[in-house]
Amino acid sequence: MSNYHIKHLEEYFQVYRKSVRDPESFWEEIAEEHFVWRKKWDKVLDWDFSKPEIKWFRNAKLNITENCLDRHLHTRGDKTAILFEPNDPKEEAQHITYRQLHEKVCRMANVLQDHGIKKGDRVCIYLPMIPELAVALLACARIGAIHSVVFAGFSSQALANRINDCDCKMVIASDGSYRGNKTLELKGIVDVALKECLGVESVLVVKRTGEKVEMQDGRDQWLQPLLDAASTECKAVEVDAEDPLFILYTSGSTGKPKGMVHTTGGYMVFVAYTFKNIFQYRENDVYWCTADIGWVTGHSYIVYGPLANGATSVMFEGVPSYPDYGRFWDVVEKHKVNQFYTAPTAIRALAKESLDYVEKHDLSSLKVLGSVGEPINEEAWHWYNTNVGKNKSPIVDTWWQTETGGIMISPIPYVTPTAPTYATLPFIGIQPALMDENENELKGNQVEGRLCIKFPWPGMARTIWGNHKRYGETYFSAYKNKYFTGDGALRDAVGYYRITGRVDDVIIVSGHNLGTAPIEDAINEHPAVAESAVVGFPHDVKGNALYGFVILKEVGESRVRENLKKEINQQITELIGPIAKLDKIQFVSGLPKTRSAKIMRRILRKIAGKDTSNLGDTSTLLNPEVIQEIMDNAL
Ligand code: WT7
Repeated sequence: MSNYHIKHLEEYFQVYRKSVRDPESFWEEIAEEHFVWRKKWDKVLDWDFSKPEIKWFRNAKLNITENCLDRHLHTRGDKTAILFEPNDPKEEAQHITYRQLHEKVCRMANVLQDHGIKKGDRVCIYLPMIPELAVALLACARIGAIHSVVFAGFSSQALANRINDCDCKMVIASDGSYRGNKTLELKGIVDVALKECLGVESVLVVKRTGEKVEMQDGRDQWLQPLLDAASTECKAVEVDAEDPLFILYTSGSTGKPKGMVHTTGGYMVFVAYTFKNIFQYRENDVYWCTADIGWVTGHSYIVYGPLANGATSVMFEGVPSYPDYGRFWDVVEKHKVNQFYTAPTAIRALAKESLDYVEKHDLSSLKVLGSVGEPINEEAWHWYNTNVGKNKSPIVDTWWQTETGGIMISPIPYVTPTAPTYATLPFIGIQPALMDENENELKGNQVEGRLCIKFPWPGMARTIWGNHKRYGETYFSAYKNKYFTGDGALRDAVGYYRITGRVDDVIIVSGHNLGTAPIEDAINEHPAVAESAVVGFPHDVKGNALYGFVILKEVGESRVRENLKKEINQQITELIGPIAKLDKIQFVSGLPKTRSAKIMRRILRKIAGKDTSNLGDTSTLLNPEVIQEIMDNAL
């Protein structure tokens, strides 16, 4: 038996060594024992990072939905696959069993086929977090169509760009969506987008909010009547292990979004194996990832990873602040959630509110807490650990990227001792390398450099849709024969990794490398601070100096604010050193953020550098209105 479920640290090290010594036979064993294939591979791995070309499970044939659905029908037919928790707590939760999900997927797959969708066609999915979203992904996979999910918070322009980039033939959308006490329209956004997307032949519309929508004759149809009329059986289309399963766009450091292409066989093996171990999922556990399926976290750890393991995966339509700031904890209590996976930004937002919201709920079902998306600062880590985990549920700080498909560096809970701000150890099969400026690998411990991965893993993206050259340039050209992540990291004395942030954000001050993440950590430790962002700006003597944009928990009077500036710098001096002190501190009411809640540093850098003539594309920001305020008060 292969080591599908790691149970103690010694076993981790033993399996890790095996996975590195002989990756092919390691992954082959996992693939053979835990998945169903129509036909096995004739070679486990072909790779050449200089091309770059990566192929896992050559010539193997499968359908991922047979792994996520059909094979569970005998043993888990009546088990809940998707537990849907609606935006409004007064609306009843839906327990969709594996049998029901199989039926729903087959019906939708038949509808897609009836609309001319074939293997290899691209289908754009623009839906809120309702069950139809998960069903739509799986329905595409059932017939070998490639899904391209666009987060239903993107604007019509962003949607149009993505639809056109990969020539989608169909769009699956809804009339609208619920977000807390707001109702948002979606179909109208699709209509505007489609004025620019001449390749789209049909639009299938899910009714969710009852908004009035316009249906274009010959193009748009309500989905439900078509589903009702469709058969509950749909033969799964056989695909090659290397056929694309989906495209998912990620913003590049600049310019056009990159359509990362994930293929089928390796992705399935990787997300299923990481899910099982990193959440220590056991039969009958209830697992909840709060991400949106519009992001890779949702693809891999709400849909494919959990379902490939026959898990119960909670799908939450709402927001953490509605009807109040206790909603997450209310849902944990209501569904007795065992594994809870969220983002530091959500933790920080909730930590600002009264502890009563947490304390009035019974969170005793929790066994594992997860964090993803950005470095988790010490303060947030401790708040999460103490108040949610009650110091007994390990926090898995999972580092990965859209491009990696699944989790790369993370503790295994109850196996790897955790440490705040550390993603700890590479997952089984992952071979990280830290590189210095001269492209040399930094060996040994207590080193800091640029994070690369030096050997392929099954879940990695294979290309950028329509632009293989850019794929090579972005990820495989900075360091020879290595995948470059764009992140910086350090490896401490015991070999634990801490992600220090994007290296594009590293600022060199007086010849010293300073990561923005640790400085922001230090600022955020100040009790008056809610959030901050640090960027560099040109300085005569130091080369670069530091500019901090700081959101305070309470605005306060100006004298107090001047004092706070001193205190913040004291805090930085204490936690990092005087070299990291900020030259300028500007208090702001918000920070420009992308829809995935990442701070748009590019804009802050321009404002800090007094170079605001061309701020670039700000159309995909969550809160474009803060930019003017920040510019007006810039120092
Ligand atoms: C970037 C990838 C991974 C799915 C969601 C984000 C940062 C992600 C962590 C973490 C420190 C993290 C990195 C990475 N990041 N997780 N646990 N600790 N940084 O996917 O939008 O592709 O972003 O997010 O900088 O490169 P993404």
